[in-house]
Amino acid sequence: MKPKEELGKEIRNYYSSIALSENRKSCCTPLSQTGTCFTNLDMSDDYSEKPGYEELADLGLGCGTPVDFAGIKPGNMVLDIGSGAGNDCFIAARESGANGKVIGLDMTPEMISLSKRNAGKLNIDNVEFLFGEAESIPLTNNSIDVVISNCVLNLVIDKAKAYSEIYRVLKPGGRISISDTVSVKTLPDEIKRIAAYHSACISGAAEEQEYLEIILNAGFENLEIRKRKVFEIPNEYLGQYLPENEISKDVTFKMYSLTITAEKPAIKD
Ligand SMILES: C[S@@+](CC[C@H](N)C(=O)[O-])C[C@H]1O[C@@H](n2cnc3c(N)ncnc32)[C@H](O)[C@@H]1O
Repeated sequence: MKPKEELGKEIRNYYSSIALSENRKSCCTPLSQTGTCFTNLDMSDDYSEKPGYEELADLGLGCGTPVDFAGIKPGNMVLDIGSGAGNDCFIAARESGANGKVIGLDMTPEMISLSKRNAGKLNIDNVEFLFGEAESIPLTNNSIDVVISNCVLNLVIDKAKAYSEIYRVLKPGGRISISDTVSVKTLPDEIKRIAAYHSACISGAAEEQEYLEIILNAGFENLEIRKRKVFEIPNEYLGQYLPENEISKDVTFKMYSLTITAEKPAIKD
């Protein structure tokens, strides 16, 4: 595995090129030597019928529909970690309404600029976009009702730190609804060492049990898996980065995308 700073830079470059690309409706733009797109294979879910959906903010980068399980109420303060172009934020903003607010947090400056431009074009004023990292959320303790996130925590190297930050900013009784990739078993080293696989939400994914324990160890309760999707990584995709003789012909790498919900315990009288 690469050092944290180096990997962070590569992830930022990857998402920066997507934000700056003319043809943004594809997560594979920076990986397009062969025209193969991994994430659009089967990871992103269709939100297009939901109130608040805005096509210009949908870059096909998600792996679930966390807003569907978030239980956002009018007046809620919502935080979206790794907000990208604002796709989930605009849908959540419709639910939290004029008396609520959605904060989108992202560590890629070009994504923050794109999401702000999108909010301006759409005239949406109950959404704010903040530059920052999941491992060090620039918000005060106990200030958020609901945290959502779509296909981001797998990219974070210190997932325990990110989940403890999410716990810190949530109000007691607050909820999380998070879609993310998890691996079925430990991924082969040849996949882990390629940064592009990390940026494409594959090799940074934790094993499912380990991932669920990180959430429980952060202090969350009532953890539930609300949706599970299995997807396979085809050998043609791996072949973009690996020499032919390193691709195992008889192995298909399976991964899951999970959408989980959980709560920060309420203060008891
Ligand atoms: C796979 S994209 C998902 C974007 C968005 N959630 C969506 O569904 O369209 C990952 C996003 O998370 C951001 N990101 C990656 N690591 C992050 C971190 N540690 N803290 C905050 N944002 C991060 C990236 O810049 C990128 O915009």
